[in-house]
Amino acid sequence: MKNNLILIGYMGCGKSSVGERLSEVLSLPFLDTDRLIEKEAGCSIKEIFARKGEEDFRGRETRCLKELLEKKTRGTVISVGGGLPLREENRKLLKELGEVIYLKASPATIFERLKTDTTRPLLQVENPQKEIELMLKKREGFYQEAAGTVLWVDDKSIEQITEEIRRQCGNENSGD
Ligand code: S3P
Repeated sequence: MKNNLILIGYMGCGKSSVGERLSEVLSLPFLDTDRLIEKEAGCSIKEIFARKGEEDFRGRETRCLKELLEKKTRGTVISVGGGLPLREENRKLLKELGEVIYLKASPATIFERLKTDTTRPLLQVENPQKEIELMLKKREGFYQEAAGTVLWVDDKSIEQITEEIRRQCGNENSGD
């Protein structure tokens, strides 16, 4: 049976861009939990955080994973929100759902990519650089625990990262 390939990692590590490219290269469908949640809620992640708060959003993430499992989603490239692996329940659900790949980026790379971004509510703070460093420290263990494969993405192009994943994990999951 074809497994899913799941990309996890901090905001700005390239989960969505790599996921989209990987799905093209492997001829597999692509899903992103943030987009599924926005579709279901009928508004943006930013609006969900503002109107209902982070806990409500985290509940939506867990429900989203459960739905993917209930629908018996297979042979799909799935990227998930950066905070989704923080809940223990979600880490278990991720393992059930497929092969989990952690795209690991340094705080400097993440800051460079996100310094002008306004769509991530958790980074709309006075000192986003410090916030990224602190959050990454807190999250690193959870990402490592959730992942079967860890891949450094600093200074690599989307094409290079996609190729590495294809070589390491793609063979049994290709749509061919
Ligand atoms: C979050 C990451 C975001 C989004 C939300 C919270 C996080 O997704 O789910 O803003 O807690 O790291 P991306 O990692 O796709 O930016």
